[in-house]
Amino acid sequence: MTTFSSEWLKLREAADIKARNREVSNALSARFAQRNEVSVVDLGSGTGSNLRATAPLLPNLQTWTLVDHDSALLDSARRALSSWADTAQPHADYAAGLTLTKGYATIHVHFLQCNLASDLHTALSQRVDLVTASALFDLVSADFVRAFAHAIADRRAVFYGALTYNGIQRWQPHRPTDSQMTSAFHRHQLGDKGFGPALGPMASAHLADQFRLNGYLVLEGESPWQLSRNDRMLIDELVRGHAMAVAETGAVDIKTIEAWVKVQRTGAETGHTDIYAVPT
Ligand SMILES: C[S@@+](CC[C@H](N)C(=O)[O-])C[C@H]1O[C@@H](n2cnc3c(N)ncnc32)[C@H](O)[C@@H]1O
Repeated sequence: MTTFSSEWLKLREAADIKARNREVSNALSARFAQRNEVSVVDLGSGTGSNLRATAPLLPNLQTWTLVDHDSALLDSARRALSSWADTAQPHADYAAGLTLTKGYATIHVHFLQCNLASDLHTALSQRVDLVTASALFDLVSADFVRAFAHAIADRRAVFYGALTYNGIQRWQPHRPTDSQMTSAFHRHQLGDKGFGPALGPMASAHLADQFRLNGYLVLEGESPWQLSRNDRMLIDELVRGHAMAVAETGAVDIKTIEAWVKVQRTGAETGHTDIYAVPT
């Protein structure tokens, strides 16, 4: 199973928030504008970045269940959310979660350690209005997306999937080996990340198709990272992550990878797609 460090998730958070597609997030916000409260499940929550970005779009009374298989990330989420909030009150039973206030919002947060690949139904066992995830779906398989869309439709819940990698990767300055590296990276993306053969850059298209097949209206929008010199650390980590993934495929020789890593990049564009789907 792929693991993610809390340092990497922290490093990407500002770029993720900036990249989110406004048309898609406005549609989500409008959907719940007449409601006082909303219950949300965030799949593959990591350190809680999706809650921090999405909570301002939702009614003032919110209940979130953060689901991840990695207990260390759930602990990081508890800490990161407590510092992000104006106030944070642990529930009497520590394991039960936290109550946060942020601006006018009161947000009850529960944490659930669960492997989504084998136990999606536990993650969706509570009443839920909105199921969301960010930077998750490129890891999952076509079978998972099919079962997932069906499970969401069964509950007539709204779906908001942010920041799914869509296969666009451009580097500045461009080098002739970039395309070889990107195609090897995509080969790595299609490997098993714990859910069976992963969809990688095809995930968004599969999500949109499956939600439409379940009678949902679907809105998609681009949410690319547009990284510049100011994003030096993120670019360097992105380069390192690509090099490691490509090395694992064996599709590019080590000398080429080493030379590629040494190129000083001044910018990068990484394409993502946001998707919002509602039952008709
Ligand atoms: C790229 S990270 C994104 C984290 C967070 N949503 C964000 O935007 O920062 C993917 C997350 O999915 C979680 N994950 C991966 N496979 C999982 C599985 N089988 N079950 C539950 N969580 C999983 C990882 O632990 C990680 O937190």
